[in-house]
Amino acid sequence: MSRRDRLVELRHDTSVVLPSLLLCDFGNLERELGRLQDAGVKALHLDVMDGHFVPNLTYGMPIVSACRQLTDMPLDVHLMVSDPDAYLPQFFDAGADVITVHVEACQDPRATLQTIRDLGAASGLAFNPQTPLEELAKYADLCDLVLIMSVEAGFGGQAFNPGTLDRLAQARSIVGPDVVLEVDGGINRETIASCAAAGAEWFVVGSGIFRQSDYTAAVRNLLDLARPPLTG
Ligand code: DX5
Ligand code: ZN
Repeated sequence: MSRRDRLVELRHDTSVVLPSLLLCDFGNLERELGRLQDAGVKALHLDVMDGHFVPNLTYGMPIVSACRQLTDMPLDVHLMVSDPDAYLPQFFDAGADVITVHVEACQDPRATLQTIRDLGAASGLAFNPQTPLEELAKYADLCDLVLIMSVEAGFGGQAFNPGTLDRLAQARSIVGPDVVLEVDGGINRETIASCAAAGAEWFVVGSGIFRQSDYTAAVRNLLDLARPPLTG
């Protein structure tokens, strides 16, 4: 199964909560991933930051490779880097299933998205809160996923930006139903339901999981809020 096919397969799981590996215990990565998988998590979100595109520095291909060795869950790699084109092959080779780049960092978003697909990964395009969504229409045909940031990229634990809800609805109106709409930043018990109602289907959660003692309860609660039980 191609890595893009794995994205399609995951899609049919309606709402998906993806823990963002930024606030986790990297000193016990294997244990952390095991706990997350036991908690019912189906995919991971890896926050790659270069200290240039964002004022924070996290990790690169070695951590992606380590996660690839530890789990077969799809790896959703969020590149918050100034020159994503320089690293696409390395992140694909490290095991990324989805590679998401920031539209603000791309010289030529179409070329970058095409390269991601040519490598065999699913292509994602991310928009920071202040970036107008109008230009999304120019790239929608090359997006397997659109990431709407609900905080300014760079740090976990930030407050949710309520303007995100309109942006999610706007993004959904621009891209078709077969594009995954993902939201990232400040997603927790208080904010996930309104994001789901606005059209989001993948939910990146950092502090809403890693600052809770019981990952299983946290993930279950978030999923229940994201996909309310069918009535009737
Ligand atoms: C921020 C990252 C997010 C962040 C989420 O730049 O892209 O994934 O780590 O963390 P919370 O859920 O704590 O806002
Ligand atoms: Zn992220």
